[in-house]
Amino acid sequence: MTTMPEFSPVFMDQLDDLFRWRRDVRHFRREPVPEPVLDELLRIACLAPSVGLSEPWRFVRVDDPQRRQAVRQDFMRCNAEALADRTGPDAQHYARLKLAGLDDAPHHIAVLSHPEPAQGRGLGRGTMPQTTTWSTVMAIHTFWLAATAKGIGVGWVSIIDPDQIMRVLDVEPTLELVAYLCVGYPAEPASTPELERRGWERRAPERREWIQR
Ligand SMILES: Cc1cc2nc3c(=O)[nH]c(=O)nc-3n(C[C@H](O)[C@H](O)[C@H](O)COP(=O)(O)O)c2cc1C
Repeated sequence: MTTMPEFSPVFMDQLDDLFRWRRDVRHFRREPVPEPVLDELLRIACLAPSVGLSEPWRFVRVDDPQRRQAVRQDFMRCNAEALADRTGPDAQHYARLKLAGLDDAPHHIAVLSHPEPAQGRGLGRGTMPQTTTWSTVMAIHTFWLAATAKGIGVGWVSIIDPDQIMRVLDVEPTLELVAYLCVGYPAEPASTPELERRGWERRAPERREWIQR
């Protein structure tokens, strides 16, 4: 018989620390993460649940300097457009935020999702086809937590044009871009979200309450 491991109270406390200290990181040290550690993160990410066991995620390492530069330029263009949509103090506040760590992060990882994977044989997707994307997000979050546990930071960059990034990546065009991640050792630890520290937004206590029906 297979026995499930028991998770000790000490482990549970540490797990709570892990959840609380997982951060979206935008300031990185330059030194690369050892390849075996990155491989380990990918292995753990693939333990995530997926609709029909379809494992629709595809993790793409973006190492080519020209592709990275093209992603940076796309971010700068999209970010300038986002800034142009704002006015007054809101625009000034937005302009002061650091919304990507694309220059410093030693690793860029694009996470793509197969919208109609053969694996999983369609189970669970009939009425909710978006479940493939959600499965890929599960893998990203698993990757993010595992990285945090190893002292590695992850920053999710979504101020990009997915069609343009897909052209830059030059991968199978039926895949969908879900995330563009900056990965590396954080410049400094932080116990609260950067957007909170910069006065942009705060965690809302009311979100921690159940809605009753
Ligand atoms: C789907 C998704 C997209 C995000 N895109 C961006 C982004 O483009 N730029 C950015 O600075 N942060 C981005 N973030 C990070 C959030 O701002 C961050 O998760 C939030 O402020 C909470 O901070 P924490 O992750 O450190 O707890 C994204 C997060 C998610 C989940």
